Amino acid sequence: MDGDRHVTGRTLAKHLGQWRTANSRAAYAELAERVKLLVLDGRLPVRTRLPAERELAAALQISRTTVAAGYDLLREAGFLQSKRGSGSWTTLPDAPGVRQLTPFAPAGDSAAFDLAYAALAAPPDALAGAMAAATEQVACHATGSGYQLLGLDSLRETVARRFTDRGLPTTPDQILITCGAQHAMALVLSALVSPGDRVLVEHPTYPNALDAIAREHARAVPVGFTGPDWDLDTIAAAVRDACPRLMYLIPDYQNPTGRCMSQEQRAEIVELARRTRTPLLIDETVSEIVLDGPAPTPLAGQLAESSTSPLITIGSASKTFWGGFRIGWVRARRPMIERIARARASMDISTSVIDQLVCQHLMADLGPVLARRLPAVRSARDHLFALMAQRFPGWRTVVPPGGLSLWVDLGAPVSSALVSSASRHGVMLAAGPRFGLDGAFERYLRLPYTLPEAKLDQAMERLAAAWLALSDAGAPTPGWPDLAAAEVA
Ligand SMILES: Cc1ncc(COP(=O)(O)O)c(C=O)c1O
Repeated sequence: MDGDRHVTGRTLAKHLGQWRTANSRAAYAELAERVKLLVLDGRLPVRTRLPAERELAAALQISRTTVAAGYDLLREAGFLQSKRGSGSWTTLPDAPGVRQLTPFAPAGDSAAFDLAYAALAAPPDALAGAMAAATEQVACHATGSGYQLLGLDSLRETVARRFTDRGLPTTPDQILITCGAQHAMALVLSALVSPGDRVLVEHPTYPNALDAIAREHARAVPVGFTGPDWDLDTIAAAVRDACPRLMYLIPDYQNPTGRCMSQEQRAEIVELARRTRTPLLIDETVSEIVLDGPAPTPLAGQLAESSTSPLITIGSASKTFWGGFRIGWVRARRPMIERIARARASMDISTSVIDQLVCQHLMADLGPVLARRLPAVRSARDHLFALMAQRFPGWRTVVPPGGLSLWVDLGAPVSSALVSSASRHGVMLAAGPRFGLDGAFERYLRLPYTLPEAKLDQAMERLAAAWLALSDAGAPTPGWPDLAAAEVA
């Protein structure tokens, strides 16, 4: 199959960034390795037509023979297919397991340490109890069709109650149950956003949100952070200049930076949205992972009941309980819920009843689950921070008050090269540019603390070996000239 889209030589060169590491490996092998990483972490989608050899050679200022040899290597490894007259386009190899890889996850051995996702394993005891309770209940539901566009009434009630308990009075008719927050996001975008619209995003942000925006043929308008805070002046200027159709924000333990928005900034964002009539899509997927300080109150609570500004909140059970459930939700005013439900009818119709029942039982057990889970996550966070400081004294990070990962400044633009080296050492990670647009954040790495501490020890040992291999290969490491100015951060 020919490529659905194509990438120009200049754009690919931008994505490749500093791909040469003065490695003893041949340039064509390094080029192939870096393109492979771009395919595996989703920055270069499958079926993207690559530039002609001559064009890429010109953009990278290397010989055409080097590009041709790099493309050959990619073809041999199954990451490229070519057809005379149609060019070459990206593919994934047929090797067992590779097709199940996440777009983030580089191919690794089965013993690899998976830190490509910032997500925890399921809480085993609570899961077993909830599954047993759900199994008993399923018979009463099985007499009906099982299709429910809005979700099970009982789970909608449970989710509404949790919002109310967190300080945002909510009724069940304001809740739509989805198959995870990503699905919730896709539904909201498909209901509200048209091709050519702009969507304001934090920069860096959650990568699948960028992909979901691109899927609607909309354009992300990135706004960076200033110090520990959201840059509200720049957000206001971007709203004025770009007139976005929607603002997508993650105020609680922002993924990937871990920042938490202050009450004052929450109020200002809501006021900006009201004044400019810009709908807000608030992603609360990570909100329950509170490690220090008070739990954040839902941003939607800042909106006066009488306001007509749309404020839509999405969340899920993925970080609190388990990503394997695929249970999420949308909270909005009732007419908006009905509108989103209509958009859903042509997509997937309903969420698994069994998963909803399990999730409902887990949510009933939320307090005890979090009381066991959060201290372990806090301890893993502090452990990883200490390991990082010990093994990588040149790396910098701010310990986040919640969430599941550190956002680390590597001190040099080597994130993709490090992730590539790490995958060869059995550690799967997402490189900084995965969280940004146009190759930004090559200096940064997201480092989740989602594995047990003993495994974090081993993963960091392997990462240290990967870093050493990179340094031995001559990659710029901390102490080299500061190249941050070249980033769009
Ligand atoms: C901010 C954010 N939004 C959405 C998602 C997707 O969550 P789900 O697994 O519920 O689809 C994630 C998962 O990492 C996330 O971090």
